Amino acid sequence: MAGGVGLSQALSYARDLKSLYESSRARERELEQMQERLRVAYQQSLQYAIDLRKTYRRLQQASFRSLLGLANALEAKDVYTRGHSERVAALARRIALAAGVAPGPADIIAQAGLLHDLGKIGIPEHVLRKPGPLSEEEWTVMRRHPIVGAQIVAPLEFFAEGAVIVRHHHERHDGSGYPDGLRGELIPLGARIVAVADVYDALTSDRPYRARLARDEAVRRLDVEAGQTLDAHLTALCVHLTGDAAPERTV
Ligand SMILES: [Fe+2]
Repeated sequence: MAGGVGLSQALSYARDLKSLYESSRARERELEQMQERLRVAYQQSLQYAIDLRKTYRRLQQASFRSLLGLANALEAKDVYTRGHSERVAALARRIALAAGVAPGPADIIAQAGLLHDLGKIGIPEHVLRKPGPLSEEEWTVMRRHPIVGAQIVAPLEFFAEGAVIVRHHHERHDGSGYPDGLRGELIPLGARIVAVADVYDALTSDRPYRARLARDEAVRRLDVEAGQTLDAHLTALCVHLTGDAAPERTV
């Protein structure tokens, strides 16, 4: 009799154990399925993040191209400034490379050259195109264009260094420039390069108040500015790169 009870209990335990085992297996399978669903969801969100990042970069590049179009349109209105920024950009890139700047940062300097005067969009036409000297009040307006330009390009994250160059392209080596009166090597290198290219192109282009200068005269004027308002070494590089007139007088 006692043996019969023992066997019955043992069978009951065995059934309970089997049932426990099966329910724990079922939970394990559920857990595995949940893990798989989580893994798929994680992969999807990762892909969404990558896609969003790509879209964001494309939007930034599209904004940059729009600003280039805007700068071109601004320049094209005036026969005297047409093509100025493109020439400044090309020359600035060459000076940068000659100064030992790596190709990537040299491209940023060139892009800043393309956009350096974008802030002039905020200057009234009668000031921008005035053939004679500007009044003090008009100069105050004109001197705002580097800050306005830097503010316009500020949202472009990939162009942060370019924004700095745009802001400082009218600083002078001796500290007499604007907007911040920086001097010497405190002026960012890219801004010093764009400044030299800007002055060289202005001297060798027609202006409402004078015809373009001959190469020798332009070089003479650059030499006067070298070490005063312009970085002497970068000015020498500019003279060297822009002509065979006097390559021996440079670097
Ligand atoms: Fe400017």
